[in-house]
Amino acid sequence: MSPTIRIAILGSGNGTNAQRITEYFQQGDGRIVVDCILYNKKDAYIAQRAANLGVTSRYFPSSQFREGTAVVDYLRERKVDYVVLAGFLLLVPQVMLDAFPGRIVNIHPALLPKYGGKGMYGSHVHEAVVAHHETESGITIHVVDNRYDCGTTLFQAVCKVEPTDTPDDVAQKIHLLEQEHFPVVIEKWIKNERP
Ligand code: GAR
Repeated sequence: MSPTIRIAILGSGNGTNAQRITEYFQQGDGRIVVDCILYNKKDAYIAQRAANLGVTSRYFPSSQFREGTAVVDYLRERKVDYVVLAGFLLLVPQVMLDAFPGRIVNIHPALLPKYGGKGMYGSHVHEAVVAHHETESGITIHVVDNRYDCGTTLFQAVCKVEPTDTPDDVAQKIHLLEQEHFPVVIEKWIKNERP
């Protein structure tokens, strides 16, 4: 029997993606499990979601995420194979990229390369999309490298933006796309990558 593949999810906020991904794999065949959820904002709701889901969660201050070694040591201790960024707003340090080469994935709430980069996250993205009168937006799931929102794109999905849409309307459409696609793309990515 092939060994269990362990995922760590890193987040900074609400944690709706973390919850969806965890539930998806909890309902799966058990080959892939969400081992732990790490976060860098003490009062982030993602911690409560982890508790509700029965998943180990751990707070690391942003300084430790930026430096990287304490987090990498923790992930190694727990025998984590893949790292999923789900609303995680810090740049991933080189030490973590080296520890998980090609094994860190991120979701971005826009059609990269548009509306990406430092400071482009969450509602800022949707406000910019509406301000520029875009007729469509979407999600991008990509492998992480040492830049914000770059790295090989694995998947994109598109939604329409109507002239009357507010940033909140766009956020809602993006949320639905994320919930539908992110766990499935993670699963395919991991399974295809393994020999
Ligand atoms: C998601 O929409 C995700 O795409 C976005 O933050 C939100 C987190 O929501 N990520 C970025 O903007 C990264 N640049 P969640 O905490 O409820 O999953």
